[in-house]
Amino acid sequence: MTAKRILFTGGSGKAGKYVIAYLLEQGHRVLNVDLVALDYPGVDNLIADITDSGHMFNAMSSYAGFDEMESGKGVPKFDAVVHFAAVPRILLKPDNETFQVNTVGTYNVIEAAVKLGIEKVIIASSETTYGICFSDGKTNPSVLPLEEDYDVDPMDSYGLSKVVNEQTARSFQRRSGFDIYALRIGNVIEPHEYTELFPAFFKNPEVRRRNAFCYIDARDLGQIVDLCLKKDGLGYQVFNAGNDHNGAIIPSKKLAEQFFHGVTITREMGEHEALYSNRKIREVLGFKEQHNWKKYVNADD
Ligand SMILES: NC(=O)c1ccc[n+]([C@@H]2O[C@H](COP(=O)([O-])OP(=O)(O)OC[C@H]3O[C@@H](n4cnc5c(N)ncnc54)[C@H](O)[C@@H]3O)[C@@H](O)[C@H]2O)c1
Repeated sequence: MTAKRILFTGGSGKAGKYVIAYLLEQGHRVLNVDLVALDYPGVDNLIADITDSGHMFNAMSSYAGFDEMESGKGVPKFDAVVHFAAVPRILLKPDNETFQVNTVGTYNVIEAAVKLGIEKVIIASSETTYGICFSDGKTNPSVLPLEEDYDVDPMDSYGLSKVVNEQTARSFQRRSGFDIYALRIGNVIEPHEYTELFPAFFKNPEVRRRNAFCYIDARDLGQIVDLCLKKDGLGYQVFNAGNDHNGAIIPSKKLAEQFFHGVTITREMGEHEALYSNRKIREVLGFKEQHNWKKYVNADD
């Protein structure tokens, strides 16, 4: 059976609501666990706090909805946990709060999932682990394209929290043998944002330097999560989650020369291939992007 019973944290947010919509379209059942409910047809909601371990153990061992009480066979087990809840960047909360919510919250979610025998966990990591996004001043990466074997080195509390979360995931995977996949999500773009944002990105590419010119369409992110749900047996994995091309009109080689001057390019790249490489999700998960920016905005707008 491919349809799964999924507990999703942080599904009321910018990225989560599109990913949940995609998962529902694939026939999965989704319980959204968040501080605020998501008003979307077919989604069950439970208001709970990831920083409270008791909440997470309860959420993962509860009915998703009243209908599940009807069989009289007790609470069904979740097939997977998708964990997106977080403070999603620096400068929203004090740094220590960002670090604490993200690291303790992720520990609580993964610990509850593993101890309750849920054998697939997917967590939201971030492009910021590569240390360019929230660096003090302009920082060059050590090499390009950015791939998953990079020695991640952020200097901010949010990026650091995501590096710690990847280590937490790795540790629990090693103990359990379950599948725990971390998605280093790039800058999430909602459908309406192409026409709102991209023309300005093209006029002034410098504004995208901190994102290494990466973007991920929120619906394509849904596909990536679904592919992770379907692909079993990989143990602990890190995947960059980005689209195929840069969110820029300048070809990749020139873009790198202009904005990351002097940085070694480690392999041949396609003309517009993303400097924030999504090669691994294409090769390992079979990702096929559906929402390239070219579908929604003209290069000369
Ligand atoms: N948006 C991006 O460009 C981007 C890029 C890289 C990584 N990410 C990561 O993707 C995930 C989703 O990001 P987003 O942009 O949708 O963020 P968002 O802030 O829009 O959504 C996060 C959700 O988490 C919930 N939440 C926060 N604290 C919680 C807590 N203590 N308990 C339960 N729920 C809590 C919020 O209510 C919200 O609905 C995050 O982990 C973020 O770090 C996002």
